[in-house]
Amino acid sequence: MKYFTYHDYPVLPEFIKQEILEIVDSNPVVCEVLLPQIKENIDWSKNLGLPLSEVDKHTSNFLVYDVSENISNWISKNIPEKYKQININSIVNGTHLVPHIDEKRTRAVNYVIETGGSNVITSFYKVKKKYQHLEATTRTYIPRHKLTTIEKITIKKESWHSLAVQNIHDVRNIKIGKRRIILTLSID
Ligand SMILES: [Fe+2]
Repeated sequence: MKYFTYHDYPVLPEFIKQEILEIVDSNPVVCEVLLPQIKENIDWSKNLGLPLSEVDKHTSNFLVYDVSENISNWISKNIPEKYKQININSIVNGTHLVPHIDEKRTRAVNYVIETGGSNVITSFYKVKKKYQHLEATTRTYIPRHKLTTIEKITIKKESWHSLAVQNIHDVRNIKIGKRRIILTLSID
């Protein structure tokens, strides 16, 4: 797959959008993804990235919510994808997500409900030659000076699209005080 592609899938009806916003506004968060490493011991001398605890103070929180039965039924009836999970993501209290690769999925099929500003940029990167011997792992923060941009998009609101999330990517330019809300299907 390309790094990014739009899909001609049906838009979310108003009642589904409202339900998503209600979940974000009222429900407890399932988990916060930008946590310090809790998995394996990483040998940082062989790793491209840095611990997530070292992200700058403007890095947004990445919150993950479960969906209701209503939402999951509507998706399974209307969206022709073989996903293993549906979540709502809310990106809040910051201006960006640091470059990273996703955990436990190769592709994300996303739908932006709130953009977080009119010029939010999603970028894909490749690793500069001098760092290519290092390993990129999930739950790490990959500094941008080790990377070259290969694709940059301002994703349209309320349009289904796929992101190849095993490639290094980030989200930047979120307006201070705004949040970015996404419905995301995880594909193996
Ligand atoms: Fe990601």
